[in-house]
Formats: sequence, C-alpha cells, structure tokens
Amino acid sequence: MHKVIFDTDPGVDDAMALLFLVRHPEIDLVGITTTFGNASIETTTRNALYLKQQWEIDAPVSKGSGDKYAAGEEIHPFPNHIHGDDGLGNIGVPDVVDVPLDPRTAQQFIIETVKAHPGEITLVAVGRMTNLANALKEAPEIAGLVKEVVIMGGAFDVPGNVTPAAEANIHGDAAAADAVMTAPWKVVVVGLDVTLKTAMSRATLAALAAKGGAAMQLLDRVSQFYIDFYDDEVTDSMVVHDTCACVYVVARELFTTRSGSIRVMTDSVGEGKTLQKPDGMRFGPSVWDGLPSQLACVDVDAENVMKLVEETLI
Ligand code: BDR
Ligand code: CA
Repeated sequence: MHKVIFDTDPGVDDAMALLFLVRHPEIDLVGITTTFGNASIETTTRNALYLKQQWEIDAPVSKGSGDKYAAGEEIHPFPNHIHGDDGLGNIGVPDVVDVPLDPRTAQQFIIETVKAHPGEITLVAVGRMTNLANALKEAPEIAGLVKEVVIMGGAFDVPGNVTPAAEANIHGDAAAADAVMTAPWKVVVVGLDVTLKTAMSRATLAALAAKGGAAMQLLDRVSQFYIDFYDDEVTDSMVVHDTCACVYVVARELFTTRSGSIRVMTDSVGEGKTLQKPDGMRFGPSVWDGLPSQLACVDVDAENVMKLVEETLI
C-alpha cells in the first residue's frame, strides 16, 4: 500500500488524477493539499472540496499558500483558457461548498503527516511546488522521512508548454521547484517528455462515463472544455499529465528514467527550465556540486499506462 499526500491545483487533469488515486486499490490517500496554479488558491481549494463532496472522498483537504515561495514574487496569470473560469471546465461549480477544510495549512499538514509516518509517505505534487518548498524550509528534517516525491512538471528534452523553456507547474514557482529538486530526498520528475504521450480520447472518456457511475460522469463533464483546448496537440483527446504521475507510483516499470542531479532556472528567458546533469558527467567546480541524484522520466509505455488508467477509473 502506498500512503499518498496529493498536492494539487484542480484543475481538470488534476480531477482525473484524484479519481485515479481514490480508486486504485494500492493507494491509501491520506490527504489532499491545495496549491494555486490552474486557478487561484481560493478556487483550487473550493474545487478540491467540491470533488471531495461529490466523490465522497475520505481524506482531509488542507489549503496551501496563495503566495510564491520567494516573498513578493508576482504570480503569473491563471490559464482560464485551458481549465475554465471555475478551474473545472466551466461546469458551474457552486461558489461555496459546504465541506470543512482541515484546520492545518497544507505546509503544516505535510510536516505533521510525514513525521507521524516516517519513511511511509509519498508526496505526489502536480501543481506549483510551493507547499513542498515551504514545508522543507520550516522542517528540513522531513526530507529524511519522506519515502518519495513524485512530481508532474518540467520538460527536459522537449520544449515547455508555457514558454519554449518551461512547463507550467515549474514556471509558476521556479524557486520553489529548485528547492524541491535539490533537497536531500528522493525525487522523480514525470514531465512533458512523457506526459504528452499519454492521452485519453473523448470517446473513451464517454465510454467510461457510461460504465463508471456518477463519478465518471462528472469527470466527463469537467473534461470537455479541456479537450477542446488540447485539440491542436491531440485530436479530440485530453492529455493526462497529472494522472501519468500518479501511475508512476503504482507502475514505475512502465517508465524509463535517467538519473542525475536536477536544477531549475529561476529567472530571465529560461525561467522554469528544468536541467539535469546525468550521473557520471564531470565539470569543473560549479553550482552542480554536491547535489542529490534524482530521476527524470524520459520515456513511457503509454499504451499500458492508459490501459491501467482506464481499468482504474471505472
Ligand atoms: C500541468 O499544468 C497544469 O495545467 C496541469 O494540471 C498539469 O499539472 C501541465 O503542464
Ligand atoms: Ca495540475
């Protein structure tokens, strides 16, 4: 069983990832922590509560920071054109959802839960890395207590999706991502190099909705706006970025990884670019010295990832 804290910015593909975690028999979802990204922190938190209510999820929701890791840094505009004004495909989520939040902040929840289960918690982060970086800053000792950090974000050998250099989750708080990648814990980055290969067609989604009950029907409704947006890249399909990272937790054999230390560029035209120095490459003294070796996913068995996603969602 994998005990997972899901750090998320729902978000259409986040919603599918959440349902995957809830329905996978080897996942024990111990908490949902929210981050800004696909929408403001108020909206993504409201959406997490809405999905918890609709899908009767038995895990607490903790609200994350609405500010970037580096004090005073400006937040980039939210991608309403991809996830809708309500962050869930403009389905008309009520403004207020009558479900209580956990009293702890996301940062506190992560620290307390990791300390309560040393060596057991997998952090799956599919939004900005802000909460993880804040938790590390407050309690650096958690790095030695977390089992693994699985991140959806970054683009190593392919272009980004918000700039030629950067993927959205990393670009949205580059300093936070650099702090997370360079900390002494085990990080696996599931970036655009692999997630762009994993997509679900509108027809498959509709077929799952016909079989998968009310939860899948809601996911189908939520996803239509996002599928329309992605039409330029994948015809009539949705790229399942965040679900792809969740699949890594239970089926890592479907991914090809490369090991080496990872850094994130934090300013100028390269802001949010993820770089990896493969193990064994040697340079003179530099900012790469002494960093932990992390894993970057460079290829994926997309067919079997999607098979597992379809089996799990219904
Ligand atoms: C990532 O950015 C967000 O739009 C998605 O939810 C995903 O986590 C893809 O770049
Ligand atoms: Ca996301």
